[in-house]
Amino acid sequence: MENWTQGWLVYRHVEDVGNAQLTRKIKITGFDEEQPMVRNAVAEFRRGIRGMLGGSVTLVHAGAMREGVLVSCRQEIPAEGYRIREADGILQVEAADGPGVLYGIFHVLRLVAMEKPMRGIDVTCRPDNPLRMYNHWDNMDGSIERGYSGNSFFFEDNRVLVNRRTRDYCRLAASVGINGVVINNVNVKEAASWLITERYLGQVKKMAALFAEYGIRLFLSLNFAAPIELGGPDSADPFDEDVTAWWRQKIAQVYEAVPELGGFLVKADSEGRPGPFTYGRTQADGANMLADLVRPYGGIILWRCFVYNCTQDWRDTKTDRARAAYDNFIGTDGDYRDNVILQIKNGPMDFQIREPVSPLFGALQKTNQMLEVQIAQEYTGHQIDVCYLIPMFKEVLDFNTCAACPSRSECTAPVTCCEKRSTVADVVSGRTMHNGNAGICAVCNTGRDENWTGNDLAGANFYGFGRLAYDTGLSAETIAEEWIRLALSNDRQVVEHGKKILLPSRETYEKYTSPLGIGWMVTPMEHYGPSVDGYEYSRWGTYHRADWQGIGVDRTDRGTGYAQQYANPMACLYNGAETCPEELLLFFHHLPYQHRLRSGKTIIQHIYDSHFEGVEEVEEMIRLWKELEGKIEERIYQNVSERFVRQLENAREWRDQVNSYFYRKSGIADEKGRRIY
Ligand code: GCU
Repeated sequence: MENWTQGWLVYRHVEDVGNAQLTRKIKITGFDEEQPMVRNAVAEFRRGIRGMLGGSVTLVHAGAMREGVLVSCRQEIPAEGYRIREADGILQVEAADGPGVLYGIFHVLRLVAMEKPMRGIDVTCRPDNPLRMYNHWDNMDGSIERGYSGNSFFFEDNRVLVNRRTRDYCRLAASVGINGVVINNVNVKEAASWLITERYLGQVKKMAALFAEYGIRLFLSLNFAAPIELGGPDSADPFDEDVTAWWRQKIAQVYEAVPELGGFLVKADSEGRPGPFTYGRTQADGANMLADLVRPYGGIILWRCFVYNCTQDWRDTKTDRARAAYDNFIGTDGDYRDNVILQIKNGPMDFQIREPVSPLFGALQKTNQMLEVQIAQEYTGHQIDVCYLIPMFKEVLDFNTCAACPSRSECTAPVTCCEKRSTVADVVSGRTMHNGNAGICAVCNTGRDENWTGNDLAGANFYGFGRLAYDTGLSAETIAEEWIRLALSNDRQVVEHGKKILLPSRETYEKYTSPLGIGWMVTPMEHYGPSVDGYEYSRWGTYHRADWQGIGVDRTDRGTGYAQQYANPMACLYNGAETCPEELLLFFHHLPYQHRLRSGKTIIQHIYDSHFEGVEEVEEMIRLWKELEGKIEERIYQNVSERFVRQLENAREWRDQVNSYFYRKSGIADEKGRRIY
């Protein structure tokens, strides 16, 4: 029998801080009680209150209520938003639509779970981002590309699964405000092309209908070469009339069967995937062809910008993979239909532990943009190592793109004192750009493991991404604390230690892996564990260029010119080794090992020190965790403990391999005389 946990919706018994009386009854006005989202909200409410406070909850159909929750319709409240306020024993949850009701009820349940008194409360919430999505890289055979928590719960043996677990997935996603999900891998393998064929549409419809009950739109990854693969014309040229006719008929068929479908995600001309470049067309030509066809059905096209040359010669120092997304897309700014969104990875390379923010954000002025991050811990520890990623996403969202500044190409002011700030958060929320087709998505970290995410602590990313996408103003600490209280315990020590483990964990991981923004140095293909030269002589464009004198990639105006893709203030900042933020120093500069950082430390000494510190920090996390034994569920305690053993081993291996490598290259000893091999 397959078992799975309820994650942060476990609704374990909590102390009544005066909330019980407020939540014994619930009444719906202005909404149809039978509308699925409202019905699910009520069911969730009853389940949650029963679990947390005991007793039962009455659904009041008519008449006045002296105390209880009153859900009502208020048209003035923005879409998917809600207001919660208490007066005289009535806890009002007001919303204009089904998602608002669901999110409002989940908010109430969160407060009860965290033992926060609701008397006198008055909060209003609305989503910062129109689209808030999980992207799953699940394959139809049940495997997951970059999956670290077991097989898929969407697919098995080329079948689509819709069952109780699917509903629990929807509850988890909706509880954090997710409103769109791509269910299949961007690398649409042969079998997954079949998802748009008659054989599968029935099951896809079933899943889409279930998703819709939770305010979630289902999207599919699409193979641009589907006409060829599925027996249509022998071309995928977007200007070929036979090709467009094939797609028109195909999309009509898909939407007839699945009218709820949100649209399609496309990885084209990328890592061996076919695309418009194959036919001498632009990315916009490809995206627009599909966008025009899905428009009558309200569909949108999410078009990924992960387009680069993956057959580079490592001897070639002129080609720079970091430049690729910008170079391939900037010329098409303004060419896209308004139902196309360009989906841009947070950094110019590929989800490393530290990268600068993609210069496409903000540089694109007339094109809808969506931020893509990865909570599947591909390069960040495989959900064996703890790596709470919300602080990284906050940094990305807070980055000033200068998009709205008319003098973005001349200004040299330090970005921090700019009055016309327009951050990535502004850009991807659609605030700086027109039509609401914008947002954030995360490559998801779930699988069929009992606890959904392999390491229980990786649940904080699964939870936190959704919370942050809905409310980008939340701090990483607030989100961590919420998750700890909901998923682990309200116990003071659990909350304190949990935060001490999660909050610095990204920097800890960074310390024991690759230094100062250079990235990679991982075991090729697998991407867990060290291999300093693993990608150094490969075709993937991911080099550190270390020799006996120094390390780093010159991406300044004397090097590849990547730094000049940013608005001028950032370009100036990155271009100078003295001004470049140090955590990105080696991303932008090739420097001698003896180069002094602002701390006075040399680069080589920084490498040694940070690697020793990284391992010490893991040891400290383990010490903190051990103190929680008996204070949290035993299963969780054991799960995380077992992973910490592996994390420590991994961190040591990284430390010793990286330190030895640079000691051997440079011949410079550690000032502190520690053991280096
Ligand atoms: C990374 C990852 C691939 C994935 C790709 C993508 O390169 O290793 O497995 O296909 O990202 O984002 O499409």
